[in-house]
Amino acid sequence: MAAASAFSLLLALLLLPTAAPARAASVSLPALPLSTSSRWVVGADGRRVKLACANWASHLEPAAAEGLARRAVGDIAARVAAMGFNCVRLTWPTYLATNATLASLPLRWSLERLGMLESVAGVRVNNPALLEMPLIDVFREVVSALASKDIMVILDNQMTTPGWCCSKTDGNGFFGDKYFDPDEWLKGLSAMAKIFKNTENVVGMSLRNELRGSNQNISLWYRYMQLGAEAVHASNPNVLVILSGLNYDKTLSFLLAKKVGISFTGKLVYEQHWYGFSDGGNWEFQNQNDVCGMVIDSIRTKGLFLLQQGWPLFFSEFGFDMSGTHIGDNRYLTCFLSVAAEMDLDWAIWALQGSYYIREGILAYDESYGLLSWDWCTARNPSFIKRINSLQSPFQGMTVYISHYQS
Ligand SMILES: *[C@@H]1O[C@H](CO)[C@@H](O)[C@H](O)[C@H]1NC(C)=O
Ligand SMILES: *[C@@H]1O[C@H](CO)[C@@H](O)[C@H](O)[C@H]1NC(C)=O
Repeated sequence: MAAASAFSLLLALLLLPTAAPARAASVSLPALPLSTSSRWVVGADGRRVKLACANWASHLEPAAAEGLARRAVGDIAARVAAMGFNCVRLTWPTYLATNATLASLPLRWSLERLGMLESVAGVRVNNPALLEMPLIDVFREVVSALASKDIMVILDNQMTTPGWCCSKTDGNGFFGDKYFDPDEWLKGLSAMAKIFKNTENVVGMSLRNELRGSNQNISLWYRYMQLGAEAVHASNPNVLVILSGLNYDKTLSFLLAKKVGISFTGKLVYEQHWYGFSDGGNWEFQNQNDVCGMVIDSIRTKGLFLLQQGWPLFFSEFGFDMSGTHIGDNRYLTCFLSVAAEMDLDWAIWALQGSYYIREGILAYDESYGLLSWDWCTARNPSFIKRINSLQSPFQGMTVYISHYQS
């Protein structure tokens, strides 16, 4: 399509009050397990399930979900539901599943060893039951708090070593890097899949976040992603298996030439990331419609084409500076939302967390992309929540069956 004119059309569509129900998606678990039907994710009853997720980081140095020093875990889960999200992409480091010493470390010790006594005090006040709990059980409690609010969970293997992701030189970028031993990764995927095998609300696993760096290699991508997919499937046949592309999950274009070979069907989903700072668009200085058109063309050749080929494609990270003062981000966001509306995409916003225990060496780091405020008490940008609410329900309606949808 001619992207620029299509973009104007999309804008018009978004501005129409009837384009989407102006309410949050009603949050209740769909019929599980999920599977795929051409480009759609569907429930056990065949109805389309739209993934409208928020990323919740749990992979940084403390190896615990962010925010537990600020709010009760149940309150955070309730907030996710109140904002209309039906799902959380919950990140984890491989070591949480493969290093028994780390997994069994009580949350209090994990924070104390990093010198974070204020966070210890915060957890004691807000989540006293979690303070002495081993990290792997804290992770389970987070999943369970989300289950009690009928929120689906996608487990995302973000890093091997706990810490902020992602740099090209952090040793976590590609199979064979210093901290990225394929065998340990496979072991971690199997272990995590097994732990949550009977946990209904865990509906998917994304195998590895944002592959990157100088060791990237397409034939190794096929080899290990296929092994990872089979490892997850063997341990837990109920979860969607989600494959990330190369170059910070910006490209899956190599799939045009060769399909993934796996033993199972109806569960494979691809994921792609799209941020304004890395999509190649000169958002601040060029005409917004022109940039949007150019970027959509690029995103299409890098991944969006998969939808037309009948594969589900999950935009598992997008995000913007919620202060609203970043002109480039504001323009990118309008472009992203228009595509998400037109293609009725599945997506996960980066991020739920308003702040981190510690990120890149900075204590209580403020997440300017966070849905929640620094103290986790309010929405950082309430008008954005209204805007995203209109994209949380399938445009064809919750009652539509996929067989009708496709006809
Ligand atoms: C396992 O985790 C502990 C605690 O974080 C750490 O000290 C140790 O080095 C880790 N072991 C390996 C083999 O990475
Ligand atoms: C990719 O890995 C394969 C298998 O190890 C190797 O034969 C090939 O030379 C690598 N390709 C590049 C471009 O490094």
